[in-house]
Amino acid sequence: MPSVHPATDVRLGRIVRLLMDNATVVVSGTKIAAEIGTSRSEVWRLVQQLRGLGVDVAGHPATGYQLRAVPDLLLPEMMATSLRGTIFGAHAGKQIHHYYKIGSTNSEAMSWAAEGAPEGSVFLAEEQLAGRGRGGHTWHSARLTGIYCSVILRPALPPSDALIFSLAAGLAVRAAVAEVAPQLQPDLKWPNDLLLSGKKFCGILTEMHAEVTRVRHLVVGIGINVNQVKFPAELRDVATSLRIETGTEWSRVELLAALLKSLDREYRQVVDSPGARAAILRRFEESSSSVRGRSVTMEENAGLAGVTEGLDDRGFLRVRTAEGLTTVVSGTVRIDAAGH
Ligand code: BTN
Repeated sequence: MPSVHPATDVRLGRIVRLLMDNATVVVSGTKIAAEIGTSRSEVWRLVQQLRGLGVDVAGHPATGYQLRAVPDLLLPEMMATSLRGTIFGAHAGKQIHHYYKIGSTNSEAMSWAAEGAPEGSVFLAEEQLAGRGRGGHTWHSARLTGIYCSVILRPALPPSDALIFSLAAGLAVRAAVAEVAPQLQPDLKWPNDLLLSGKKFCGILTEMHAEVTRVRHLVVGIGINVNQVKFPAELRDVATSLRIETGTEWSRVELLAALLKSLDREYRQVVDSPGARAAILRRFEESSSSVRGRSVTMEENAGLAGVTEGLDDRGFLRVRTAEGLTTVVSGTVRIDAAGH
């Protein structure tokens, strides 16, 4: 359940926007109250709430308010211009939904999709209280440091194609990271992880509602560790962030805009061009150190172990085991330390 009510979330966003537009001056509580159509005491309450969410606002009702620093918030207005002309651009009732706190952007997007929200709707959160990962895992979603983003897609394709979208989303993240941080070369791990220095910094959870022959909607949920400087003890050995890898802070807004643009490119290719599927599989193999010729063990499938032999034409992973060639259709691949 979101712990900031959506209507409040919109008002918080408008206050931040107003303070950003007037960054060099102190804005009076009266002016803010008039702009968002509320009372001065309510503005004070909302400002307190913003501070509680980590936005650095100076001042109080008597003096007015000013931002101490321009916050790197994933506000829809910050991305609107870059997204023009993409499936995520604002038109036909489509929206970018922004939440300061929410349970899970994927759960929210699935509910909106079931209610008929259009393709290209985007759901962004500054923090998730119940971020979900694949296989029933949780996704650590600390406030203001990561990107937590879900999008609704409605491809006119059969459900068997969903894996291709998921693989394409991994390629889109890789391209976006390379665009903002060209020194980084993320390694893709089948089906949906992105690694740096062998540790995970991005995961993708694709969920689907489908009939036997036709996808009704897909929700592609992407979590990227951007500016985390540390992780809880249980994740320390397996998780990393762009900041940990580079030693510098990154703009989440810039990375998210690059991500949505590259997701748009990948998606259009899969939907529009007949040769796209083979190209995606080839590019995935080229961008993954583990999809071919590595010793792996599946965490599920009763610990199935063998050497990877690339992807089949649907995107499933081929593994040569002692018993012969097996096709792995889901699960988590553990790359063995002394791999081939
Ligand atoms: C995984 O690697 O297990 C997938 C992690 C997916 C996390 C993202 S964060 C945004 C979206 N909302 C969620 O609850 N999960 C996905």
